[in-house]
Amino acid sequence: MLFRSAGGKPIQHIIGEQGFRRLVLKVTPDVLIPRPETELLVDAVIKELKLKGVEDNPSKVFKVLDVGTGSGAIALSIAYELEKTRLWALDISVAALEVAGENSIKYGLEERVTFFQSDLFNQVKKYCNEKFDVIVSNPPYVAADEKSNLPKDVLREPTMALYGGQEGLDFYRRIGKEAKAYLDSGGLLALEIAEGRADSVVDILSNNDYIGIELIKDYNERERIVLAWRDES
Ligand SMILES: C[S@@+](CC[C@H](N)C(=O)[O-])C[C@H]1O[C@@H](n2cnc3c(N)ncnc32)[C@H](O)[C@@H]1O
Repeated sequence: MLFRSAGGKPIQHIIGEQGFRRLVLKVTPDVLIPRPETELLVDAVIKELKLKGVEDNPSKVFKVLDVGTGSGAIALSIAYELEKTRLWALDISVAALEVAGENSIKYGLEERVTFFQSDLFNQVKKYCNEKFDVIVSNPPYVAADEKSNLPKDVLREPTMALYGGQEGLDFYRRIGKEAKAYLDSGGLLALEIAEGRADSVVDILSNNDYIGIELIKDYNERERIVLAWRDES
């Protein structure tokens, strides 16, 4: 196994799985291997849902949309850890959605997590006509000039999961602009960001009228998560 790994293949592609929070997820070369920073993104969403009363309000089921779900790591973790949630999870990649669907069956979450193909939000209304309490995303964010510095094993991951345009900001611009229409008033937009890109993403979100913007640091004290709320008015 080490011999094959040394050839540049990620160890997760050899063993076919990756632990993420409380789940062990199937991973293939069609999906991004879920990372520890993304566990912190899920943590932030779970905290927000608890503040909104997800554990105290038996009559309400909270609606969450995961944009660019890959293996399903974010959506499945939220559904698994919080019973009073209903998840929708989209990806442009059909191959990724197949892997996410298998992971959902493994944990018996098919009834509470709907996976569907969509280019960002363009198919959302077909699957859920109501607004979401939370929209969460770990979008592709590698910038053009960072490509040449990527480790060999990362280069084996799907191109469409990695690259986010010239400055790595294309998806933040699109999500910042488009997510508002799908968020309930007071709803949370929670995004993972690349190291060193916090200021640019905060600008994009404040220019799109989000309020209460907060940054969260990862285990290495780098700002890696942005939280922003849709105005209540
Ligand atoms: C960085 S990966 C994140 C995967 C997973 N959420 C995670 O955190 O492990 C980004 C995902 O966005 C998907 N994606 C790329 N472009 C997209 C688009 N235009 N619309 C929807 N999903 C897209 C990719 O296929 C990939 O699965």
